[in-house]
Amino acid sequence: MNELTQAITGKAAMSAVEPIAGGKPVGPGALVIFGAGGDLTKRKLIPALYNLVREGLLHDDFAVIGFARQPIGDDGYRAKLEADMREFATSELTPQQWGWLKERVYYCQADFNEPDAFQKLAAVLARVEKERGTRGNALFYLATAPEFFGEVVRKLSGAGLVQETDGRWRRIIVEKPFGRDFESARALNAELRSILDERQIYRIDHYLGKETVQNLMMFRFANGIFEPIWNRRYVDHVQITVAETVGVESRGDYYDKSGCLRDMVPNHIFQLISLVAMEPPISFEADAVRDEQTKVLRAMPPMTPEEVLQRTVRGQYGEGQVGTKEVPAYRATPKVRPDSRTETYVAMKLNIDNWRWTGVPFYLRVGKAMARRYTEIAITFKRPPYTLFRDTPIDKLTPNQIVINVQPDEGISLVFGAKVPGATVRLGRVQMDFRYADHFGSTPSTGYERLLYDAMAGDATLFQRADMVEASWKVVAPLLDVWQSLPPRNFPNYAAGSAGPKEADELLAKDQRSWRPVEA
Ligand code: BG6
Repeated sequence: MNELTQAITGKAAMSAVEPIAGGKPVGPGALVIFGAGGDLTKRKLIPALYNLVREGLLHDDFAVIGFARQPIGDDGYRAKLEADMREFATSELTPQQWGWLKERVYYCQADFNEPDAFQKLAAVLARVEKERGTRGNALFYLATAPEFFGEVVRKLSGAGLVQETDGRWRRIIVEKPFGRDFESARALNAELRSILDERQIYRIDHYLGKETVQNLMMFRFANGIFEPIWNRRYVDHVQITVAETVGVESRGDYYDKSGCLRDMVPNHIFQLISLVAMEPPISFEADAVRDEQTKVLRAMPPMTPEEVLQRTVRGQYGEGQVGTKEVPAYRATPKVRPDSRTETYVAMKLNIDNWRWTGVPFYLRVGKAMARRYTEIAITFKRPPYTLFRDTPIDKLTPNQIVINVQPDEGISLVFGAKVPGATVRLGRVQMDFRYADHFGSTPSTGYERLLYDAMAGDATLFQRADMVEASWKVVAPLLDVWQSLPPRNFPNYAAGSAGPKEADELLAKDQRSWRPVEA
């Protein structure tokens, strides 16, 4: 922002917040967590369930069953979760509310390689149904390493646990990564769908749990003023930035085999793009929304090898400083190969070849160990066709932008030009800001509350369908191929704590455009 920038904070008077829907506890059922001793469970899932308890959104007839190897029993597991919650709860732990959840926690000690592991689970489920009245409904959360997804589902089925008989529902949530390329994702889909009906499968993407991401649909389709200009006639280009300050830390083992592209693009970033670019769905039914998202993914033509070279950039961080913290180079991370060629940064230019978007580039960049942590979507509009102001060349006029701040400071800003007060004609760039926290207060959230609630309620709108996952992998497949056959020669090519590699700036400069600055 330049010195002329002023913020007009949009704190318009707002008397009451009217919840449009929701607020009703979800029906009876049990949540079974595979990987109950892991990080996701303690950092996200249990704190999210607790937040649902606080909002009165879980049914009295609810239970959660942790499935893991450690021999600790129900009491031991409850005590462990209590200790974890002291560290990871995102809202105040009250004896009454935590007590409510704690007494609904059960434990199934088993290793899923044991022959009778799933019989044991069946017995715990039967007990829970009797004690807690869960009516046989169960949601199985696969928070395990991805190589076990297929096996767990097969064994669940072998023990008769996924069959929906006598009016009970049985569903599974599959964590990411969903495959590591198109073929493996397709094989996993085929395996799951040979056992389960598609409507029983909830492929989770935690970006869809973020308020601002969900708000994209409301913003576009519950307002009349944005949609008419949301197309190639008015939009010059779209920029999506997902910048993280963290490096790879203790995840070297996973990350070095995955890399930034697989880790972030076909899942989180493509979800953002599909919501920004999709056509209005005919309803908010899960399949109506997902049909439109899928069409966007299918409209992104896979790049030719030549295009991969021209339109994509990869980077890896070297040592540097993020804020005041010294960050070692990616290659010095534990469990990362010292000559690793894995990318920790990706930028690219994508096209969406359809009636609405042809000719409007979508630029995206995502990276670790960058100068600032934020995720934003910036829609840049075309400049006015002609300037009436003497001495102000058209390219000096501020292009209008709608900037959707996904995190950490959730909100929406509108950037436009205004006259700087004074006797001469000078134009300044101003910004109107809407901040979620200003209007709605900040709700303690892990991002998993809504997703767990919806999966228990049987609403798959915010989950990925098989065809979406496959369409996404198809788009990134040429990048994976070309990058593998042409290993990078200039890694590391950006310093930790910087805005990323200079090649990413060149990518936009070729089109006479530039990124919004990363630095705060
Ligand atoms: C995960 C990736 O899916 O998303 C991580 O595996 C990444 O590498 C994380 O850090 C980012 O999530 P968030 O919610 O912090 O933006």
